[in-house]
Amino acid sequence: MALVNGPATGSPASRTEAIDTLLSRYGRDPHALVQILREAQEQLGWLPRPVLVFIARELALPLAQVEGVVGFYRFFHTRPVGALRILFSDNVTDRMLGNAELLADLCRRLGVRRGQVRADGRVSIDFCSCTGLGDQGPALLINHHQVITRLDAERVAQIAERIEAQVPLDEWPAQWFRVVDNVQRADVLLGTPLPPGSAIAAGLARGAAGLLDEIKQSNLRGRGGAGYQTGRKWELCRAAPGSAHYVVCNADEGEPGTFKDRVLLTRQPDLLFEGMTLAALGVGARQGFVYLRGEYRYLLEPLREVLYRRREQKLLGSAIQGVEGFDFDIDIHVGAGAYVCGEESALIESLEGKRGTPRIRPPFPVEQGYLGQPTTVNNVETYCAAAHVAVHGAAWWAGIGTPKSTGTKVHSVSGDCERPGIYEYPFGTRVGRILEDCGARDTQAVQVGGPSGLCLSAFEFGRRIAFEDVPTAGAFMVFDRSRDMFEVARNFAHFFAHESCGFCTPCRVGTALVVKRMDKLAAGHGSRHDIDVLFELDKLMHTATHCGLGGAACNPLRDTIAKFRPAYEQHLKSLYFEPAFDLDAELSVARRMTGRDDAASHLEDAHE
Ligand SMILES: Cc1cc2nc3c(=O)[nH]c(=O)nc-3n(C[C@H](O)[C@H](O)[C@H](O)COP(=O)(O)O)c2cc1C
Ligand code: SF4
Repeated sequence: MALVNGPATGSPASRTEAIDTLLSRYGRDPHALVQILREAQEQLGWLPRPVLVFIARELALPLAQVEGVVGFYRFFHTRPVGALRILFSDNVTDRMLGNAELLADLCRRLGVRRGQVRADGRVSIDFCSCTGLGDQGPALLINHHQVITRLDAERVAQIAERIEAQVPLDEWPAQWFRVVDNVQRADVLLGTPLPPGSAIAAGLARGAAGLLDEIKQSNLRGRGGAGYQTGRKWELCRAAPGSAHYVVCNADEGEPGTFKDRVLLTRQPDLLFEGMTLAALGVGARQGFVYLRGEYRYLLEPLREVLYRRREQKLLGSAIQGVEGFDFDIDIHVGAGAYVCGEESALIESLEGKRGTPRIRPPFPVEQGYLGQPTTVNNVETYCAAAHVAVHGAAWWAGIGTPKSTGTKVHSVSGDCERPGIYEYPFGTRVGRILEDCGARDTQAVQVGGPSGLCLSAFEFGRRIAFEDVPTAGAFMVFDRSRDMFEVARNFAHFFAHESCGFCTPCRVGTALVVKRMDKLAAGHGSRHDIDVLFELDKLMHTATHCGLGGAACNPLRDTIAKFRPAYEQHLKSLYFEPAFDLDAELSVARRMTGRDDAASHLEDAHE
């Protein structure tokens, strides 16, 4: 069967063989579908229909299901894309650093329109959601597995030159691809690493029940956003009946402005794997997964190397640290560009090779997760923290932070400040302290926890980062007084509409309506009526959506309307109803056809 008719490389026979080898490597397991598609695309550049037909047949899946999965993820392509597929990160902080102008400049230099493939097939250029490099932006992704940071006009010109001269990517200057950790303030998690194996040894010494007790006593709460008690989650998972239990690390980190897991994965992978192994001991799991966001594909090989080393060191695999029956291993699953897959049940669907549609809960993953079995899903930082609790004990951990928010929190600081980067503080730290440390001046607002989080204005900078005051999953975006907070909220509205998975109507339609109203305001056609409608949409979406994405989609709107209303009002054309439909603009076609552009041919002038 010839698999590819398009410009993918190699002969049809060799391509068939390559896909066949890939399928064999995954044991023709339909649950590996997303990984198989990702790897097939890495080999071929895109996913031609004959490839999908072949994969569907070999995995005994309906073709419609395979096509449905491909259609769900933004990083899969069923049409040829440029040999170099360039995606500019489009978070609001990238915008503030001029990403749109740089993209336009690159498009102009290469003679390609945004979102299209150049006629010679060499390059395509577009935007994507935040790439998790807010401290060293503007950034772009090339072919989904390489990143270029700190873009400026000069670098864009050099990139264009290399593309035109067909210089292979591996001959481009290495420093362009350098991603730095940028740790500005380290505390427990980012400080001196624990010796590999020490947390596992501490966990083994306590035993599963003792370990669970210690984690509970520490009052460690999940760092992924919701702040659920980790010890309780592990206990529920252990107690749930099932033929197997699973441990999953949520490294999807898609919340715009968040990049702290990227740094933990780079700097403390042993700590993460140690924490996951402890969770396995606690819940009785033999298999773990790291769900790594597609934008962090470049971390896959370094992480795999750490896993190999740990197997050699008897810190993973069978009889860990020589303990018969303590068997646990970890696999890495790479996502394919869908923010909603950070939601734990959507993540599990994706791990099972499906579209990342959030499940109806209950049952929660701790009861019925991966393959319907009890599964604990935790954030990268949560596992790292658990390893420290095992080593130092619950009392030590609970002595850091506040009674309801124990330990430290890692923040991704970006935006208008002198020293963006990673800052780790004990819980209870004032927002103002972080602003001082990062060199923020004349700050108007801070978006804590990303677009789903809270927008704080200057009179709130005395508030503290803690679950009982200002909770956060890690993003800390700073906006000085030169920024238009309406435009910040509009960028977030576009993000949520772009990332809505479309499963439920209130979110699919609601996020689109919010964008429409915001764009109407931005275009100068808004009225107070539009702001009232936005309030109504917020109420509706908060209560009626199927998962947290839709529920949080209006958070930035609500906060910015309440705290920065003048920013909205300056965009109002009138205080009363103003139609989005611009009749005068619509008449421009008629004017062109009749060759008229005098005052009388314009609506308003004609009325005078
Ligand atoms: C739309 C959406 C996106 C999410 N993205 C992430 C994410 O990128 N990383 C994460 O750890 N949790 C994310 N969460 C929260 C997870 O559903 C889950 O609560 C978390 O992984 C649990 O880990 P924890 O208990 O250690 O916090 C997201 C939730 C929603 C609704
Ligand atoms: S709320 Fe949005 S993201 Fe969540 S299931 Fe509904 S459509 Fe999908």
